Amino acid sequence: MDLSRLGAFVTKSITLEERPGNEPTRIVETRAGMLNAIGLANVGLQRFLKEKVPLLQKMPCPVIVNVAGHSVDDYTSASAAMDSLECVAGVELNVSCPNVKDGLVFGTDPKRLRSLVTEVKRVVPTKPLIVKLSPNVDDITATARAAVDGGADILSLVNTFTAMAVDINTRKPRLANVTGGLSGPAIKPIALHLVSRVYRSVAQSAEVPIIGMGGIQYWQDAVEFILAGASAVAVGTALFVDPATPNKIVDGLNQYLIEQKVDDLADLVGTLRLP
Ligand SMILES: Cc1cc2nc3c(=O)[nH]c(=O)nc-3n(C[C@H](O)[C@H](O)[C@H](O)COP(=O)(O)O)c2cc1C
Repeated sequence: MDLSRLGAFVTKSITLEERPGNEPTRIVETRAGMLNAIGLANVGLQRFLKEKVPLLQKMPCPVIVNVAGHSVDDYTSASAAMDSLECVAGVELNVSCPNVKDGLVFGTDPKRLRSLVTEVKRVVPTKPLIVKLSPNVDDITATARAAVDGGADILSLVNTFTAMAVDINTRKPRLANVTGGLSGPAIKPIALHLVSRVYRSVAQSAEVPIIGMGGIQYWQDAVEFILAGASAVAVGTALFVDPATPNKIVDGLNQYLIEQKVDDLADLVGTLRLP
């Protein structure tokens, strides 16, 4: 894949402390998707700075670092470190993590999310702050609003949907963690609906761009997200099928713009024709 043709490269979540993640089995294939319970396995901030940053400095496209944590201090410490790195173009918060204090997920409670984003925004003064929304909520427009009120510059959505799979022979859950996050084409129509809702209810009026994701595999999927209100799209699970997916999507988008006689992709954002 030609990385120089990407709008950006987003890292997996980095936490303050090194994490081995969950026991295997951590990934299960499902119909039209996959289920993962990796458990935020990563090298932690110190090793990230030493071992990964030299690689990221060589990337021919902007790099966004995704940060996760289990307390507000975790998030602010890791995010502050990212803000000071020249090779980092933006900081994205994975707020689908439980708080060690009470086990409640940061990104599912609007009040808690707003205060987390406010705290992180203070320590990320020089880079765009992206807040990645969880779809595992009753009303995603409430958490989107909270993130914007807290100071999010960009919203990204969606993270994975909590789900499970069962082995009928052993009668056990197929993931050691019991539940995991569902991703891939199976979630695309729901993710698209959530992007459309957030765009129309919050993001458009607040002038906060959306990075849309969830099951995008072909350029046509990317067009759907852009028409629904995404200014950019991201690809995760499809990379397991074909690592060159993003380049193929860029080619398809260029062709679509020519056929539609549209000069700039930005002119298509949110142009869905609603009844
Ligand atoms: C194996 C795997 C690992 C993931 N790890 C992270 C992560 O570390 N941090 C995060 O914010 N999202 C993580 N995600 C979620 C994806 O970034 C993305 O939001 C989600 O999978 C939906 O997009 P997709 O259907 O294109 O994969 C992970 C997804 C998968 C499949």
